[in-house]
Amino acid sequence: MTPLPPEQRQQLATLLAYCREMGGIDFYRSEKDLAEMAADPVPAQTAAEASQVTIRSAPSTPLNPASPETDPTMPPRKPNLLTPPPIIDFSSSAIAPQERAAALQTIRQEIGDCTRCQLAFEGRHKIVFGDGDPNAELLFVGEGPGADEDEQGVPFVGRAGQLLNNMIAAMGLGRERVYIANIVKCRPPKNRVPEPDEALTCTQFLFQQIGVVRPKLIVALGATAATYMLGSKASLSVLRGKVQDCMGTKLIVTYHPAYLLRDPRQKAEAWKDLQLAMQFLNLTPPKRAGS
Ligand code: URA
Repeated sequence: MTPLPPEQRQQLATLLAYCREMGGIDFYRSEKDLAEMAADPVPAQTAAEASQVTIRSAPSTPLNPASPETDPTMPPRKPNLLTPPPIIDFSSSAIAPQERAAALQTIRQEIGDCTRCQLAFEGRHKIVFGDGDPNAELLFVGEGPGADEDEQGVPFVGRAGQLLNNMIAAMGLGRERVYIANIVKCRPPKNRVPEPDEALTCTQFLFQQIGVVRPKLIVALGATAATYMLGSKASLSVLRGKVQDCMGTKLIVTYHPAYLLRDPRQKAEAWKDLQLAMQFLNLTPPKRAGS
């Protein structure tokens, strides 16, 4: 293993000390993880995967061959409502803190048993509306529910959710103090990236939720969240590392926890993003037990 330059060694030592302080939080797994993280360059393919924003056109062969057109037992499709995202300034028109839970409930009712896009017809079990504190200062946006979320109706409850919980804990917060939602509320089949029409149809509700919660900061998890929150197809490497403006509120971009599970070496980079968020929110890391 190539020895690290002193500056990098110092950074890693600081990180490691901090990880130890977090005691029991598995955000950074071990010294070995950190050493590997520092020694190996990111495999080219994975780095490209991380920074690539893919806006795909509709597949030529349907992912799920059963469709209302081929299967008469299926309910007819409702037309896709290609509603452009509303122009909202999240910084205006506050809803009183004690009324926000009810306001979110109203949005949930408006969504109903949604059939506004094809995800409703492609194996969805539960609509995953969003979860957390209606008055949260920090709001995370992911891509879309996976199998566990689809089953439970709650965002980020699978393996990626466990890591997100650890990331939140590393920031000195608990999951109950933040709000978590996704670009799309229904599971895309085989966890594919949501199609633009699905994302654009669904984000109208996400934007309403954000308008109710009025967080001080949004963290976009991964390229899909960054693309649709910022309306930018720029790569994660361009969007990360700074506080962005997002419709009158502030937003930072970091890696999606599922990507960090695939390439744990990027956790150090994600930690930099979370530190930027903590700085912005004046959060201090959790104290070492006994100090
Ligand atoms: N990945 C996401 O983007 N959202 C979830 O809710 C779970 C996994």
